[in-house]
Amino acid sequence: MNKITAAITAVGGYVPDYVLSNTILETMVDTNDEWITTRTGIKERRILKGEGKGTSYLAIKAAQDLLRKGNIDPKEIDLVLMATTTPDMPVASTGVFVASQIGAVNAFAYDLQAACSSFLYGMSTASAYIETGRYKKILLIGADKMSSIIDYTDRATCIIFGDGAGAVLFEPNYEGLGFQDEFLRSDGIGRDYLKIDAGGSILPPSKETVENRQHYVFQDGKTVFKYAVKGMADVSEMIMQRNNLTKENVDWLVAHQANKRILDATAGRMELDEAKVLMNIEKYGNTTSATLPLLLFDFEKKLKKGDNLIFAAFGGGFTWGSIYLKWAYDTK
Ligand code: UT7
Repeated sequence: MNKITAAITAVGGYVPDYVLSNTILETMVDTNDEWITTRTGIKERRILKGEGKGTSYLAIKAAQDLLRKGNIDPKEIDLVLMATTTPDMPVASTGVFVASQIGAVNAFAYDLQAACSSFLYGMSTASAYIETGRYKKILLIGADKMSSIIDYTDRATCIIFGDGAGAVLFEPNYEGLGFQDEFLRSDGIGRDYLKIDAGGSILPPSKETVENRQHYVFQDGKTVFKYAVKGMADVSEMIMQRNNLTKENVDWLVAHQANKRILDATAGRMELDEAKVLMNIEKYGNTTSATLPLLLFDFEKKLKKGDNLIFAAFGGGFTWGSIYLKWAYDTK
């Protein structure tokens, strides 16, 4: 029997209806459309409104979209991997709830947290499980309700992030398609530059932490930017070299949507034509764990069987890496 590789065989996605545009942000903080557009490439982001709706709401919608489009029986799913930085609650895995809600009653489920690299690392985990032959259908969901941890009085962060979810199904492939190689890194030096100070075990939530706004995301954008540009470009170049890939035979760059300038720098180092760089940052902003699957969701029709895709991400921690995957199907 041929070697088992792990292929993506279905894609789903969901973004909430409410659009938070740059124009609206201008009325909330001291910023302007021109600054946001030129510094980040973002024009608008989606925000999940409504009492009691958490990340699971987004994840369930994305998973249901995948199940419907792929005509997949949720009872056949073996594992639901939930990549998220904004779980519904600190204890009680969001993935477990999502699995039950979508009818994946024969699956086990858990959450995976690596900030903006959560989904990329999840691709590695899902692929490894498939390659062992132990599981046949793994649903990997990337979902974040970033609006739940963003301070909408802080112009340094509130212009960047948005809410959304995407999902992919991993299955065994016997034609050599799917996951090919990975180069994943992390460095604890990043902890000072992108974090939420309070609410964890070091600084449990209190009246003071809330008053000091320590339950919101803090980012030293300039420093993160420098590490991200170098990190994403380095790993993407490395994965190309190691697999004898060139600017000609890489078909698509599927990279974390944090800042258009970081994407341009990564594509530049790979010498990739702009047309090969998938981009939707202008309409969703940075949706953390959801950026990679939302790119697949938006551009699925362009992807052809056998295409060479380079995935890349950089996130808090720091966490970063690159994955080389051969696309496994044509969309009708
Ligand atoms: O996804 C996880 C990883 N995260 C990232 O990859 C994010 C990486 N960082 C970035 O994308 C960028 O650093 C930002 C978009 C966050 C900020 O862009 P920047 O070009 O690094 O700006 P900056 O923070 O250096 O600020 C430049 C100026 C400052 O004013 P002065 O000191 O030069 O007078 C800021 O106060 O722009 C000011 N500024 C703003 N002005 C208008 C900062 N935020 C805003 C704003 N509107 N929203």
